[in-house]
Amino acid sequence: MIRTQVRASKTYEVLTGSGLLASSGKIMREVSPDSQKILIVSETNVAPLYLQTVRASAEENGFEVHEYVYDAGEKSKNINSIAGMWGVMAQAGFTRTDLVVALGGGVTGDMAGFAASTFLRGINVVQIPTSLLAMVDASVGGKTGIDLPEGKNQVGAFWQPSAVIEDTDCLKTLPDEVFTEGMAEVIKYAFIMDTKLYELLDGNASRGIGIRDDEELMERIVGMCVADKADVIMNDEFDNGRRQTLNYGHTVGHVIEKNSNFTKPHGICVAKGMGIIIESCVAEGSLDVTEASRMLGLICAYGLPVEDDITPEKAVEGAMNDKKKRGSTLSVILVNRIGRSEIRKMDPDRFLKFLKAGKD
Ligand code: GLY
Repeated sequence: MIRTQVRASKTYEVLTGSGLLASSGKIMREVSPDSQKILIVSETNVAPLYLQTVRASAEENGFEVHEYVYDAGEKSKNINSIAGMWGVMAQAGFTRTDLVVALGGGVTGDMAGFAASTFLRGINVVQIPTSLLAMVDASVGGKTGIDLPEGKNQVGAFWQPSAVIEDTDCLKTLPDEVFTEGMAEVIKYAFIMDTKLYELLDGNASRGIGIRDDEELMERIVGMCVADKADVIMNDEFDNGRRQTLNYGHTVGHVIEKNSNFTKPHGICVAKGMGIIIESCVAEGSLDVTEASRMLGLICAYGLPVEDDITPEKAVEGAMNDKKKRGSTLSVILVNRIGRSEIRKMDPDRFLKFLKAGKD
């Protein structure tokens, strides 16, 4: 098992390893000794697989367990689901020392975290991510929230968890396409900040998503990503600077995702977004062609796309509506060399020119 400490407005550990769900109750008890009640938030795909194990472990450790299981999918990431969670907790008489537990992927973690951050002005949350994407990114760092019809993650709060429990055995049950989209976020860390991770992924590229069956390798990869994310969070918890580099590929990726009405998975859109930015960097001369083909080659090796038919005009229009813009300027994340990223401020005209150059 790998233990990674995150020192932010709250200090907590991320535990990554095999078989951790069965001891999740013990870990919850350690980080939340005074809790009597817990609310396990999960969804219709994940609950049948893992909820019973977590419930049994929690009960063995003296918790009174309540559940909120929503319909799987981004469409549920709204205020009605949050109100449902608040309602269960209010009716069961939850107090400030009780606990919310997020069991599932990124949507579950974001929503459970947001419900916890607001109920009684804030109660503790433990994150138990079950998807690769949630293990390496969403569950660590305290971003929580819901979508509005106008856009993704438009309402939310920074609310750090008390612990993150990552049972890598959960990766074995993920559908191929869900594992694959998680690899986009893994590759992102390699590009923006981690040459060792790049070498590890490149060295295993011929196996493609077959790496998921290699337990030791997956624990190592997830652990490396978590350490990268912890490093970023500890430097910029509230997303005013370096944390924005985690949005590599996301500026255009979010627009592609929203324009598909969220039918295209997040990680697939991030991979496309990275591919589009790589081509634009080559066109403007800030990334050399050999480095770019190594990057594009790695994305493709893990079964991810690097292109999309979105026009530069649509990409800029969508990006200007995204919450991540500050004033009328966009912070676009560029990688000039594998392992090194840059935050470049661009106004819409500059961004349009940049994207058009990559398309030519
Ligand atoms: N998922 C990006 C972040 O946590 O900042």
